[in-house]
Amino acid sequence: MNLKELARTAGQMIADHRGLLAADESAGTIEKRFKSVGVISTEETRRAYREMLFTTPGVEKFISGVIMYDETLRQKTSAGVPFADYLTKLGIVPGIKVDKGAKPLAGSPDEKVTEGLDGLRERLQEYHALGARFAKWRAVIEIGVGVPSNYCLRANAQALARYAALCQEAGLVPIVEPEVLMDGAHTIERCAEVTLATLKAVFDELDIHRIILEGMILKPNMVISGMQCPQQAGVAQVAAETLRVLRLRVPAAVPGIMFLSGGQSAELATAHLSAMNTHGPAPWTLSFSYARALQTPALEAWQGRTANLAASQNAFLRRAQLNSAACAGAYTTRMEKAA
Ligand code: 13P
Repeated sequence: MNLKELARTAGQMIADHRGLLAADESAGTIEKRFKSVGVISTEETRRAYREMLFTTPGVEKFISGVIMYDETLRQKTSAGVPFADYLTKLGIVPGIKVDKGAKPLAGSPDEKVTEGLDGLRERLQEYHALGARFAKWRAVIEIGVGVPSNYCLRANAQALARYAALCQEAGLVPIVEPEVLMDGAHTIERCAEVTLATLKAVFDELDIHRIILEGMILKPNMVISGMQCPQQAGVAQVAAETLRVLRLRVPAAVPGIMFLSGGQSAELATAHLSAMNTHGPAPWTLSFSYARALQTPALEAWQGRTANLAASQNAFLRRAQLNSAACAGAYTTRMEKAA
């Protein structure tokens, strides 16, 4: 394991007020996203869509890394350049989602545990050879009556830690993603309580599994009201609560916290990030690793048509730019109107 290389990659991922584009939707998820704009999901439409995003002129000013799916990492631009090589040349670090999805948790089938550890060591070696320098594994924690159970938190935390150890052994920076879902009518206080318990379980296991904190990235949810909660917490409260929870649970040695958007609107995901970055010094760099909050406007503009290429790339670049401003705490809603 090369500690210097891991820390250097993590440093590149959080540098210069840039963030990550999560473009690692599995075949099932991208099909759902395409369906919403009337596009049929085939290997070629998926490739063309990802090429539209990756080849957006100027994107490297705001995006430091891209998380790909197995199929995407093996695909090429229409000029025949592998996506990983294309991105690396631009100074964008290629990454890969390596988990195999959240499955029912035996003994507590209403909860989920993420699978994919079998054969992971060999897959990571192959991904490294294909150019990936970081990886992602997402655990899904649902809030409901009596859930999450301690069992669910421990099972997911242990899988995250085993994945992270294998990544560091293979020279890939692990993105550790424990996502407490926004679904439900719970309050922001309940989200804070569950996020605290989740992060406690995760960092306990990371410690047991000897993870080098300087060579990892945390990708958490923000602490936020449930989507169906009648009392939605405002931007300032979300920023303050998220920072409070993170300060209690995330060691300062972790270089970067790159949030998921989790179903927030593109504008809110940007506003929350910016508010956190205006709150004053935090021990870690706070940035973004969004899928929907970066892609939705671009996907809607694209609609699978080559004629819409410039419009969709503009929409994507715009969101990337606004989120980069949010990394500096410099985003204002007035910027949305200017767009
Ligand atoms: P969202 O930003 O759409 O939540 O996706 C981020 C991600 O990578 C989920 O694993």
